[in-house]
Amino acid sequence: MKGVLLSGGTGSRLRPITHTGPKQLVPVANKPVIEYAIEDLKAAGITEIGVVLGNKGREEIQELLGDGSNYGVDITYIIQGNPLGLAHAAGCARDFVGDSDFVMYLGDNMLRHGVSDLIESFQAGEYGAGIALQEVSNPEAFGVADVDDQGTVTELVEKPDDPPSNLALIGMYVFSPAVFDVIDRLEPSWRGELEITDAIQLLLDEGHAIDSHVVTGWWKDTGKPEDILEANRLVLEDESLETAGVVEDGAEVDGRIELHESAVIEDGAVVRGPVSIAENTVIKSGTYIGPYTSIGANSELKNVHIENSVVIGESTITASERIVDSLLGRNANVESAEEFLPEGRRLVVGENSQLKL
Ligand code: DAU
Repeated sequence: MKGVLLSGGTGSRLRPITHTGPKQLVPVANKPVIEYAIEDLKAAGITEIGVVLGNKGREEIQELLGDGSNYGVDITYIIQGNPLGLAHAAGCARDFVGDSDFVMYLGDNMLRHGVSDLIESFQAGEYGAGIALQEVSNPEAFGVADVDDQGTVTELVEKPDDPPSNLALIGMYVFSPAVFDVIDRLEPSWRGELEITDAIQLLLDEGHAIDSHVVTGWWKDTGKPEDILEANRLVLEDESLETAGVVEDGAEVDGRIELHESAVIEDGAVVRGPVSIAENTVIKSGTYIGPYTSIGANSELKNVHIENSVVIGESTITASERIVDSLLGRNANVESAEEFLPEGRRLVVGENSQLKL
């Protein structure tokens, strides 16, 4: 079994965060989303991984993942270029996959319990593909599968106006190499993409059985800012967090805190976990960091009250303000204005930013 990890796409729903980098590198609990996928594949015993790259952020992804040895896996890079659809991306991995079965993992998806169960279920029968499903309240935003009383997949449809069920296809699939044959014959969908959902429907039409596996632990497609905040909450809730850095006398710290060994919580700061604070970051006097917050590397916080938020890193935040439910991009700075007239907020806000004042 090999792994194919998709990290192309445009990241348009995460702008402006993704203006400068790929969405798969946005950190959740101070770890890029794509690293969770690599760890899941490794935990399922998959060490040969093809990483499919788009046009955006190719260098950054290769710089982070390298040849995979830091993660105990062997990475081959595959260039897709323009995002012509998930089935097109899978097709690009044909030479890498050869005649092996493979797991395709969407690099912006996170799954609490990993992919081992999905693989086991696929390997227990003679299937053309295995899909992972989860009940959702907005099936029209996903690929949707209809499943009969015996759990047999009867129909698949991508982002339907009138969903046949509330079971969304989540971003992990297992395929036999038979999928490459149907990919060659796919037509672009209404959104102009070669859809993997259509490829699976075609496998079904041509007599292949499709295994389905309903996932019970949490799953998150991290496509939108609120999804990043929720994934951050879920990971901080679950992971064991280690305090290796310096907590000065006079700092008030409770709950679980992940504090990098080079990070400092200074006298007069208050931190209530679960919280993650990355390397070289200093939390100064007067700061309050509330639960479910991750502060990235090389940042300085002073006087601010921040909670349920993700600060990606390289930020200076010194405004005496309450910041909640927020996602701050790399090198974003939030400072108090000097006390000169005219009064009011002074903003330098990038394209596609969202402010709620
Ligand atoms: O998250 C699950 C959903 O993912 C499924 O329910 C849908 O059936 C499936 O089509 C997909 O929908 P999205 O519209 O959310 O996919 P998105 O365009 O966000 O792409 C998912 C990942 O694949 C993302 O990491 C980018 C990467 N990608 C995407 C395209 C279109 C590629 O590498 N190449 C591509 O051509």
